[in-house]
Amino acid sequence: MTFESRSETPTPGYSLPQIGLHWIIAALVIAQLFIGESMTELVEAAEEGEPISGSTSTFATTHYYFGIAILALVAIRLALRLTNGAPPPPATGQTLETLGRVSHWLFYALLVVVPITGLLGYYLGDPYGEIHTFAKPVFIGLIALHVVAVLYHQFWRKDDVLMRMLKPD
Ligand code: HEM
Ligand code: HEM
Repeated sequence: MTFESRSETPTPGYSLPQIGLHWIIAALVIAQLFIGESMTELVEAAEEGEPISGSTSTFATTHYYFGIAILALVAIRLALRLTNGAPPPPATGQTLETLGRVSHWLFYALLVVVPITGLLGYYLGDPYGEIHTFAKPVFIGLIALHVVAVLYHQFWRKDDVLMRMLKPD
């Protein structure tokens, strides 16, 4: 069995662990995008030997541990994805179905690469820190596209795709 056919194993819907992990990881990623700059401040202050405020330090520490949690949870999620599979995409035609598939795998790639470049940036500095920072607009763009796609399904096509990520099957 090839990787592609395993990853597209048909299943009636997402399982409870897949749904739970989707929403926990989404919440953690959104928090990371808000608090990430505190880590940039911490890194810059350390380079220039300047003090940082207590709140910046707390947010930067949170950023560190949330990032590691995302990496660990994504490993479980990918294992479930490759064994449980995913429900077939709603019939929107070849182009949109491919866009959906590509964007989902791009999410998984970012969820692995971004925490790893964060760790490398923290311990080794640039260029990893720069690559990590560059991922921010890519992540935001992909989340915006993802949400627009869900809204399109929900209100235009009315095919209840959102329900697939709310109710286990
Ligand atoms: C999915 C997980 C993560 C996301 C979405 C994320 C996101 C971000 C964002 C938005 C920034 C601010 C960039 C800016 O200043 O505009 C940032 C900075 C930073 N993050 Fe993360 N991060 C994640 C995981 C991690 C992890 C696991 C670490 C490990 C220590 C980490 C370390 C850093 C460092 C060192 C910076 C400063 C980069 C620099 O200025 O060189 N991040 N991150
Ligand atoms: C940082 C935030 C998010 C990330 C990283 C993310 C990631 C993903 C990924 C990777 C998938 C594909 C699941 C798979 O087939 O294995 C997915 C599916 C899905 N996501 Fe998100 N998501 C995020 C936010 C959201 C939000 C805010 C919504 C609601 C508006 C949402 C609704 C959905 C739905 C309904 C599906 C199922 C699509 C389908 O059945 O084909 N996601 N998400």
